[in-house]
Amino acid sequence: MVSGVVRPPGDKSISHRVLMLAALARGQSELNGLLTGDDVKSSARVLRQLGADISRIQESGVRVSGSRLLAPDSRLNCGNSGTTARLMLGILAGQPFAATLTGDASLRRRPMRRVTEPLKQMGADIKEGGDGLPLTIRGGKLRGLTYTSPVASAQVKSAILLAGLTGKVPVTIREPYRSRDHTERLLAHFGLEIHERDGAISLLPSAVSIPAFQIAVPGDPSSAAFLVAAAILADTGELVIENVGVNPTRTGFLVVLERMGAHVERVNLRDEGGEPVADLLVRPAALTGTEVAAAEIPTLVDEVPVLAVLASRARGATVFREVGELRVKESNRLELIAANLRAVGVKADVQGNDLHVEGTEKPPRGKVETAKDHRLAMAFAVLGTVDGASVKLSEKKSVAISYPGFFADLKRIRADVPT
Ligand code: S3P
Repeated sequence: MVSGVVRPPGDKSISHRVLMLAALARGQSELNGLLTGDDVKSSARVLRQLGADISRIQESGVRVSGSRLLAPDSRLNCGNSGTTARLMLGILAGQPFAATLTGDASLRRRPMRRVTEPLKQMGADIKEGGDGLPLTIRGGKLRGLTYTSPVASAQVKSAILLAGLTGKVPVTIREPYRSRDHTERLLAHFGLEIHERDGAISLLPSAVSIPAFQIAVPGDPSSAAFLVAAAILADTGELVIENVGVNPTRTGFLVVLERMGAHVERVNLRDEGGEPVADLLVRPAALTGTEVAAAEIPTLVDEVPVLAVLASRARGATVFREVGELRVKESNRLELIAANLRAVGVKADVQGNDLHVEGTEKPPRGKVETAKDHRLAMAFAVLGTVDGASVKLSEKKSVAISYPGFFADLKRIRADVPT
């Protein structure tokens, strides 16, 4: 049985962006509902090293005094956070000093050329050992750029937009499919000249800097997705998930779930700082397998682990097309989703860049390797709530990256499940 009312933590993508933009703004900004997860703390730490004055990261209000960024006196450690590393590269491209970025073992393995390549074309001087961290960037005088990204990536798009913003040069970006548009919405919300034409996003330089602002960060739909999944897999009851961002570039998982037979109701739809927000009403449902098209992937890229877990409980097969990008997330998510599903008795495999999952009614039983990837840990913890399941996670701490209170919330809404 599922029951209760729950609020997911602040949106991770938006939390990074408002911290960075507040650090660049003139005066004191106030940020409410910020995610307190480790990734956001990584952005705050890096911005403080660059001279920004940021109060303790807490949900109930963070004050940021923005000013000109200053040369750091040591390396900028981005921890596990790809968003910190890639978006900060964009900001640093517009600064007249050198900075070295690094991160934990997982982040150091992740590709950075997708960002350094266009930033070099804009005139940033970047010294890199290979396609990853550590690397040193010296920004300064930039030139405008019109760029077609080979990957649909909000991090690539945002890095270029932030370089245009800080370097005061025009930029235009095209991508194969539209990725999350939080950066565009925030820049438009702050009055910058940003527009979209035929799928190309353009930002024009502005003589004035962003004014200090007050903003409330909506709950993270990617974190809410785990709660939605736990409710769908219950046998009876109903769950209310309050204050969830429902930006259409993020809610592809709700579209896919509808196709699979689960209707998630959105009530109390409102606007919060240029982002649509709603409360979600979820009930248990019987699912049917589906095909998830390549064009849908950017709108649910972080939800593939939990959707694959749901697919394993559906009638029939599910295929996720063109999910090769999952190989370069916090872990090799593509191989690990398939291997972990197999480890608990589900038929799943990777064919080329496609992920295939065969639904079963057999209770999942076995040991899961999370590779310290927060989304793998949460997805398989949800699978562990089904009747008769015994799913052992190799670790649980990684959830602190994006959802520190995850296990407490899961326990509360599924009080019937023994832990
Ligand atoms: C993010 C974009 C996505 C997503 C990540 C956060 C962002 O990555 O997977 O968790 O905040 O811009 P890509 O842009 O690399 O797809």
